[in-house]
Amino acid sequence: MTRVTVVGAGFVGMTCAQRLAEQELAEEIVLIDVLEGRPQGLALDLNQAAAVEGYQARVVGTNDPKATYGSDLFIMTAGLPRKPGMDRSDLVEVNGKIVNAVASYIQEGSPEARVIVVSNPLDTMVYLMAERLGFPKNRVVGMAGVLDSSRMAFFIAEKLGGGIADARCMVLGGHGDSMVPMPQFSTQNGVNIPALLPEEDVHAINHRTQHGGAEIVNLLKTGSAFYAPSSAAVAMAKAILRNEHRLMPAAAYLDGQYGLSGLYMGVPVVLGAQGVERVVELEIDEEGRKKLNASALAIQADIETLKEKGLL
Ligand code: LAC
Repeated sequence: MTRVTVVGAGFVGMTCAQRLAEQELAEEIVLIDVLEGRPQGLALDLNQAAAVEGYQARVVGTNDPKATYGSDLFIMTAGLPRKPGMDRSDLVEVNGKIVNAVASYIQEGSPEARVIVVSNPLDTMVYLMAERLGFPKNRVVGMAGVLDSSRMAFFIAEKLGGGIADARCMVLGGHGDSMVPMPQFSTQNGVNIPALLPEEDVHAINHRTQHGGAEIVNLLKTGSAFYAPSSAAVAMAKAILRNEHRLMPAAAYLDGQYGLSGLYMGVPVVLGAQGVERVVELEIDEEGRKKLNASALAIQADIETLKEKGLL
């Protein structure tokens, strides 16, 4: 039996559970949260949708870490979201504590699991999770590039007057304001974006992509995006559970690639049953490299904060 645990029954977590069930990606989906009643209520609601939707998956809502034991895959969404005006880095301390608590029961009960981290600040939380678990680094991966690339794909398709099905984008670096959209590695069915749009449009799309999360936080006023983040996390879960060997941008552990070591950052990876099968190194120009290095410095600053607070 395939068991997937979604940690955190907020909007991202509950939408992940729904997508996993509707796509029948696991026989059992465990939704765990510290709030009493919420995961149980959401699980019951999702199970009551099964007859109409026609899915066999069963959802278990719980507050008990033991119910997650033996999971094949975790999607870690627990943590506070940003409020308007906040930077993702403002969440380091509060979400770092939650990651520490969750890592201890993953390690205890699911030593073979693969783990997708979604909690923010993403690149720092996935690093902390991997350090705490002590699992091989390829089994722990962060979700951000798929989301940021999907946002960019929407903006490009909109500018071109449609054609979202042909849009394939690549956003690298950290999941923060220093993320690095890569129009030269983004295409409309194989045709590079700079050949299709004038430079000023490409710049405007890059900028909107970089601030895509904040745009939604400002509109919602309470909470942050969840439909696209859960789509992205579940697409990665599917790549792992079905061993699809998909090439996706994701936060992976860098050990010399792109001239960087000892941190997690968004790079193109191949995702399959073992998690990150390989990191793909692109030929990036001087300007792109500078931006990636700046992104890495921002992530390293958050890792230092974790250390200062005694969370790592
Ligand atoms: C966003 C949050 C989830 O980008 O980081 O919407």
